[in-house]
This record gives sequence, C-alpha cells and structure tokens, in this order.
Amino acid sequence: MSATTNKKLLDWVNEVVAMCQPDHVVWCDGSKAEYDRMTNSLVKGGTFIPLNEDIRPNSFYCRSDPADVARVEEFTFICSEREEDAGPTNNWADPKEMKEKMRGLYGGCMQGRSMFVIPYSMGPIGSPIAKVGVELTDSAYVVVNMHIMARVGTKVLEALGDSDDFVRGIHSIGAPLIKPNQSDVPWPCNAENKYITHYPETREIWSYGSGYGGNALLGKKCHALRIASVQARDEGWMAEHMLILKLTSPEGTVKYVAAAFPSACGKTNLAMLEPTVEGWKVECIGDDIAWMKFGEDGRLYAINPEAGFFGVAPGTSMASNPNAMRTLHANSIFTNCAITPDGDIWWEEIGGEEPKELFDWLRRRWTPDSKRKASHPNARFTTPAAQCPVIAPEWEDPAGVPIDAFLFGGRRATTIPLVTEARDWNHGTFLGAVMSSEMTAAAAGTVGTLRRDPMAMLPFCGYHMGDYLAHWIKIGQKGDADKLPRIFYVNWFRKDEDGKWLWPGFGENSRVLKWVVERCAGKVDAIETPFGLAATKEALDLDGLDMVDEDIDILLQADNAALLSEIEDMRAHFAKFGDKMPPELTAELDALEARLQG
Ligand code: OXD
Ligand code: MN
Repeated sequence: MSATTNKKLLDWVNEVVAMCQPDHVVWCDGSKAEYDRMTNSLVKGGTFIPLNEDIRPNSFYCRSDPADVARVEEFTFICSEREEDAGPTNNWADPKEMKEKMRGLYGGCMQGRSMFVIPYSMGPIGSPIAKVGVELTDSAYVVVNMHIMARVGTKVLEALGDSDDFVRGIHSIGAPLIKPNQSDVPWPCNAENKYITHYPETREIWSYGSGYGGNALLGKKCHALRIASVQARDEGWMAEHMLILKLTSPEGTVKYVAAAFPSACGKTNLAMLEPTVEGWKVECIGDDIAWMKFGEDGRLYAINPEAGFFGVAPGTSMASNPNAMRTLHANSIFTNCAITPDGDIWWEEIGGEEPKELFDWLRRRWTPDSKRKASHPNARFTTPAAQCPVIAPEWEDPAGVPIDAFLFGGRRATTIPLVTEARDWNHGTFLGAVMSSEMTAAAAGTVGTLRRDPMAMLPFCGYHMGDYLAHWIKIGQKGDADKLPRIFYVNWFRKDEDGKWLWPGFGENSRVLKWVVERCAGKVDAIETPFGLAATKEALDLDGLDMVDEDIDILLQADNAALLSEIEDMRAHFAKFGDKMPPELTAELDALEARLQG
C-alpha cells in the first residue's frame, strides 16, 4: 500500500514499476519492525550472517560478490544537458542517450524481486538545510543500510507532503530472478554492467548493476554530493566531502571544524578523535559530508546530512579510533571483513591477539599462515551515528553549527608539511584546488598513485570542476572575511627517508587542532613561508612527544624544491579546466611560483 497521496511521487513510482516489473512494491515505513523483518529475510536468504549476540548484539556480517567491492568511478556519469557542464573530471553522456541505454537495462530488471520505495531525508527532518529524496531499489541490503545512513520512512513522506521537491533515485542490482525456481545468490549484482548515472538538471539518479556502498546507497555520494553540489551552486550554498567536529578548549571555548580529505584518508578517525592534549575535548557531528548555508549572522552553518557512518573497517582499532570501535558495539552491519569462528568480525590492524583461524571475505578458511589479507581493504561498517559515544548533543540541530575553520589534506609521504594556514580565503581555496593524495582502495583503481583531488571532490562534484572552484571564490566574496572559516592544509602522512612516519597521527592530531583554533583566536604566531603560514615548534604543542628536533623541522616545513618541481603539474591540472578556471586561482599559482623562486 502506498503511504502517500503525493501524485508526482505516485506517478513516478508507477512509471518505474512498469519499466522494472518487480513482483511486489513495498513502501518502507522506516520502523524498527521493518528493519528486523528485512534483516531476518537477509539472514534467511544467505546474504547476512547474524553475529554472536553475546559479543555484538543485533549485528550482521555480509560478503559481497568479489566483483562488487568499491565505487566504480569509471562507470559513474554526470549526464548534464551540455557536456561542458560535466567538465573534464567527470565522465559525461548525453542524458537522452544514457536514459535510453538505462531503460534497456532496467526493462524487466526487477522481475522475481520486490521493489522497495525508500523516502529519505538528508539532514534532520524539517531543517532548512535538509533535502528529501526517494530511492526505488530491488536490494534489501540497500534498505537496511539506508535505515542506518539516513532518516527514512513515513515521517519523511509526511514532511514531503505534496511537494515535487525531491531527488528521484532508481537503483537496481540488475539481477532478475526469471527462470522457474531460480534460486538467489547471497550477493546478486551485475558485475559486467555497472552504471551510476546522474541527471543534475532534473535531480535524478539512475544506478544499475552494483549493490555496494556509494554505488547503491543513493542518499550518500550520488545525492548528498553529486546532485547536491549542483543545487548548492545554483542556490548559493555548499555541499562538501567534509567531516564536521566540535572542539572544546580547557577554558570551555567551542569551535567547529570541517575537514576535507579524500576517501579512506582518516576522516572518520579525525571526526571522533580522542585528544591526547590535556583538557581538550573533541565531539563528532559528522564523518563524511557537510552541507553549509550562510546564517543570518553571516557565518556558515553546517549540518551532517547523514545519520550513520559507512566507514572503512581495516585499520580501525582501539588505538586508531576507539570511539568508532565503541560505536560498533551493536546494531551494525559489516561488509567484506572477516568472521571469527565464534561469530565476531575481524579485520587487519583491528588490534588484540591475532586469531588462529578465520573465514575471510572470500568465504575461505584463513590462518595466520595464509599469505593474504582476511578482509578486503575497502571492507566497511555501517553504524548509527547516534551510538557514537562522542556524538555532539547538537549533531541534529536543524540550524546546523557555525564553522570556524576548514582543513584540507591528503596522503603525502613527501613535500607537504604537517600544517599550514592559508593567508586568506582565495589562498585557502587555491590550497584546496591543488590538494593531492596517494590513492586508496575506496575506489577501484591503482592504490598509491598520486592524484590531484580538489577539496576531495574529484569523484563527487556533479559539475565542471572549474565552475566548482569559481563557486568557492564566489562564496568567499559573498562572506565577510572575518566571519568566513579560516582555511588550513594538513598532512598526517609525511615520512622520512627510510619510509618511517614522522608524525604519530590519530589522537596526537589534536595538537594540530589546538594550533588551528589558537590561530583562529589570534593566540599564537605563525611564520610566512612560500607555501603559507607555517607552525613554529614553539607554538605547536609537542609536549611529551618523543620526537627528535630534526624530524620536527622536516615535518613543519614544506620541501620547497619539491614544491617548485610540482608547479608544472599544478599548471597542467588547472589547464584542464580551460577558461572556467577562476583567474584568482591562477594568480595564486603564479604567486606561489614566484615565492618559491624568490
Ligand atoms: C566514502 C568514500 O565511502 O569517500 O565515504 O568513498
Ligand atoms: Mn567519503
């Protein structure tokens, strides 16, 4: 039974039903009973294994098809009316032609399955910054993950009313059950035909073939970043690939920081870090996406559009992210890690004693002698944000929180110092625009290759990257210099010549956060360098850290010769954006080169 009288929504659902031909249509109400029903049926169907109730209550383990383990950037398309609006960093296809092709794939693709209608809100329902979407999917895995990752169900339909203002998302795993008595597989997908397509002008998402994460949970990357970035450009706000954290000083001063790092570079770790600096407190607002609008006081207010964390599991431990580990104690879904014989999850670097026996993400027996990893490097957990022990009380404040500082960063073994402050908004935008990182396993591709990833938005910007950078410049012009967030560039990943990390990272990153907010408050000095304003050894709280002076010197300074040798690469990067490239940023690049040659 449909749960709405919204004619536009009903008409569209009917159209999709006629095209995909599901056996049943299920309108999701978002209730706990629905969640339990769906997880039970996933267990019955062999997709989920319930974890040991005594160790990890109400939690499930799941293994995907080995051919469906990450976002597929190669098959992700921005189908804007004009090719130039997608720009050189996106795959573009003509919307009519792509829809034709997708209709071909969608024809009868849900036969033998149910189609679930998931109304969802990105952001607290009723927040002036939040937006509604509806995802139609034939994947029960998607439904239960969406229950955790967004606000879903009847309450969203009520908030939507008769409005036509919702993002329309169609998702199919592309695996109809059409043969008589055809039995299902644990992870149905269509490994040969994956398409993640976006229609920015009509605010539509059509996804096919993959059941995994960012390809399938359409509220996340597809809606909250690719479509929302276009809406944000049109309406004068910002949709960014940023965590949001709240930092409280020993004196009780509260600051909010948003930070953009590429996928799998530690956003979740930073978002809920346990500070090592005496008296400081970090609380989490969000770990992946920030939507920001100017408030009446001229400051930028951010909400976390999501309701859960879809985090990278390997490497997460009581040492690297104790608050994530505590969040995962129950009510969570684990995909593509390993499972222990007593029914708990395991992944590389989870800490503790190495188990003597496991079953790996490929369903094989694993022992410490097996010469392979037990979990996939992009294994993920899905867990409710409300369970995080350091979730900030205001994380669902419909008004959002006022942002004091932005951090940009990536994985760089060389060249880039621990922390640098931008001179002003345009310089900060420049630092974000040339931001670079060694690639991780979050996307299918070559791990370790260096790529320039402006504001960590390369795979997520729904329009021309040159226009996106111009939007940043425009936001700077719209805002008051002393009310806009200050901008910083960080790099936790610098190594010495022997390949050893120079910075301990994790909780110790609170030392950098402290310097950042003290700079914002005008309490500490910085030194002018060609790259930007650098921290001095004295101003950065290094008390109690076991570091030698020479390492600190290397860590706090950019390698100017190496930076100079990157100027050509930065120029080539900007050249790709042609005449869309904002002149303010080309001027920043010229100025950086001049300072380095200086
Ligand atoms: C993510 C990603 O899943 O960035 O957050 O890939
Ligand atoms: Mn992300």
